[in-house]
Amino acid sequence: MDVSLSGRNFLKLLDFTPEEIRYLLDLSAELKEKKRAHEPHRYLEGRNVALIFEKTSTRTRCAFEVGAADLGMHAVYLDPSASQIGKKESIADTARVLGRMFDGIEYRGFGQERVEELAAYAGVPVWNGLTTEFHPTQMIADVLTMEEEFGRGSMAGRKVTFMGDAGNNVGNSLMVVCAKLGIDFCACGPAEQMPEDGLVETCRAIAAETGATITLTADVEEGARGASVIYTDIWVSMGESSDLWGERIRLLSPYQVNAELMALAADDAIFMHCLPSFHDRKTTIGEEVYQKFGLAELEVTDEVFEGPRSRVFDEAENRLHSIKAVMYATLK
Ligand code: CP
Ligand code: NVA
Repeated sequence: MDVSLSGRNFLKLLDFTPEEIRYLLDLSAELKEKKRAHEPHRYLEGRNVALIFEKTSTRTRCAFEVGAADLGMHAVYLDPSASQIGKKESIADTARVLGRMFDGIEYRGFGQERVEELAAYAGVPVWNGLTTEFHPTQMIADVLTMEEEFGRGSMAGRKVTFMGDAGNNVGNSLMVVCAKLGIDFCACGPAEQMPEDGLVETCRAIAAETGATITLTADVEEGARGASVIYTDIWVSMGESSDLWGERIRLLSPYQVNAELMALAADDAIFMHCLPSFHDRKTTIGEEVYQKFGLAELEVTDEVFEGPRSRVFDEAENRLHSIKAVMYATLK
């Protein structure tokens, strides 16, 4: 397969063919092997990348920084308060400045149009580290994690269900990657929190080509039944008001991933979550929500999160290998 992503942006998976996504998955697995074997892979020695974070991060930031270092690059981190972007300087101006100094730019922030504009002006590859609409690097890590469980290329025809806030950036992105790779995707949640109609239509058109299916349902039993993967995410995402907690708890509590729900899935089903997760009271927000609403576990119970079917920390590790693959593929 002759795939080259050299010079490309990585803004959303809708922009990539199934073969290109396959290439990134295989490259991620290859780079993971090299890292495990302590085999040097400083393929991009001397390059520089800028990491713009308008929202906070643990995994994505660390994956870009460690990944850049492993590839021989230097990374400069611009935190939510440290850059002028959008406040004193437009995105287009920032893009043209950073494009003169850096070989690639990561952006995490608000609307997808911001990362698209950055890419239009930068003149160097731009990578989406999460926007309100999409989280594409997460998806490469996630499918890699699924394939580690079920085998390379074996996800086509399996059912992957996103439970809960299915119209958020992670739910949207999971629907796109499943459509692209011929995976049966199910968004299971209330009508208010479903992916937008336009995106569902786009994914259904892709699915018609790849053999995937896209199902939207409010019925937990229908969503969970026979799924190989039960995936969930937090109920209030970054950038959303904390005033939404009450309404989201009301809408999404029926979709909490608990032992009863997991029992409906396939016998060999795994549990996945992009993280961070509210599965106990060991965070300030988790404790605040508990004090206000009396719920100690939110989108997933501690039992499932810590249980034998949970793959959340393999998934978190795979962020490193997949982000490294995205940087290498686009910069080489
Ligand atoms: N999953 C994920 O993107 O985590 P961070 O917000 O910590 O980067
Ligand atoms: N939906 C979450 C994902 C975090 C990785 C958010 O946007 O906050």
